[in-house]
Amino acid sequence: MPIDIRPIAPEDIPAIVALARTTWLDAYAEILSLAQIDYMLAQRYDRARLMADIANPEKWLHQAFIDDVRAGFAACEIHKDEFKLDKLYIHPGMQRKGAGAALVAHAAALAREHGYPGVILAVNKNNAQAIRAYAKYGFQVRNKTVTDIGDGFAMDDYIMIKPL
Ligand SMILES: CC(C)(COP(=O)(O)OP(=O)(O)OC[C@H]1O[C@@H](n2cnc3c(N)ncnc32)[C@H](O)[C@@H]1OP(=O)(O)O)[C@@H](O)C(=O)NCCC(=O)NCCS
Repeated sequence: MPIDIRPIAPEDIPAIVALARTTWLDAYAEILSLAQIDYMLAQRYDRARLMADIANPEKWLHQAFIDDVRAGFAACEIHKDEFKLDKLYIHPGMQRKGAGAALVAHAAALAREHGYPGVILAVNKNNAQAIRAYAKYGFQVRNKTVTDIGDGFAMDDYIMIKPL
């Protein structure tokens, strides 16, 4: 199936916000509380925040289409001098069709183009499906982090790296 990677534009924001919510509720149902999912979605997928991300030259937001149907999206950014894959979400009905692999390949190409020696990401320690996918994409665990994100919530993550 043809997979097409396109930049995310302001007019795509409502569809991306909806896709994020559907995917988070499915992926994190048994990992995070609904209160934490709502809190994190409100923080990260606020329209003004996404508009600022699109305008930021150190952030890259892309979406993947399979047969012209929006399957998922990814966001990359420079984080403390490293190239970070900050978001990767594929709609539950479109998973396992290669969209995640295509978006990661795109992120790796961007990192290479900008002279970075690797791509890093943070993934919840209990997100076995994503950890398995990242291992297939060439990522390995570098270290563990626990980050306080406010309101009594924390993120308990592995930091993974894919050397380029
Ligand atoms: C993890 C994710 C990004 C992978 O993208 P994808 O397009 O579904 O995956 P790909 O087609 O590139 O396949 C890569 C691997 O992912 C794993 N995978 C993807 N979907 C899966 C599913 N529904 N069940 C089990 N494993 C799955 C498999 O290991 C797969 O390899 P395989 O088919 O050779 O066994 C995607 O499944 C997703 O968005 N998951 C929910 C949200 C999430 O956890 N995002 C990561 C946050 S850090």
